[in-house]
Amino acid sequence: MTPRYRIAPSILSADFARLGEEVRTVIAAGADLVHFDVMDNHYVPNLTIGPLVCDALRPHASVPIDVHLMVKPVDRIVPDFAKAGAANITFHPEASEHVDRTIGLIRESGCTAGLVFNPATPLDWLMHVIDKLDMVLIMSVNPGFGGQSFIPHALEKIKAARKLIDAAMQRTGRPISLEVDGGVKIDNIRAIAEAGADTFVAGSAIFGTKDYAATIAAMRAELAQVG
Ligand code: DX5
Ligand code: ZN
Repeated sequence: MTPRYRIAPSILSADFARLGEEVRTVIAAGADLVHFDVMDNHYVPNLTIGPLVCDALRPHASVPIDVHLMVKPVDRIVPDFAKAGAANITFHPEASEHVDRTIGLIRESGCTAGLVFNPATPLDWLMHVIDKLDMVLIMSVNPGFGGQSFIPHALEKIKAARKLIDAAMQRTGRPISLEVDGGVKIDNIRAIAEAGADTFVAGSAIFGTKDYAATIAAMRAELAQVG
């Protein structure tokens, strides 16, 4: 059974020269997912890692790999990530010409699919596709870089997304997770969970500390206090 809350360390803030070891260490420290940020210097102003690196990390990842695509176009690269071991693939609606088709492509590739909402992107995009999604990802920073501050307005958006997801799950019985990405720390994770999130991406908050296990444990202790 899926735990109530999942912590997904973003390897964007890991030591790229020792990526396999970093993935093993953070999983041993209690990570539920490995968050894999793909940036193309086109859709976002930064350039990171692709399917080759995902495939290389696969033997080191004993938990699902959560691939966050910040690339445009999206469709060409989806099957490559599915073959490289992605379990979940999320993408931004602005980066796809045909959002419904991209969701279908991800699911046909054998992965679960999620739609990502930038701070200024309205949740309206969910209206006609929510029943095909496995995840909704709310960005609490503008995508492109680790180490940015959490945008407080994201809490209102998480609450609104929670309502839409609960209504859809009640209608269909299909689970949909609500992930939050950007500026998640020990001191705000509880408020983010109280707003309705169940999956928490944290890059600098985890990889910026010496003891990943202690940081993840402190996050879980905060989550344990959610009513
Ligand atoms: C930002 C990425 C995030 C990033 C989060 O575009 O999508 O996953 O790594 O980093 P922190 O947790 O440091 O804000
Ligand atoms: Zn991300």
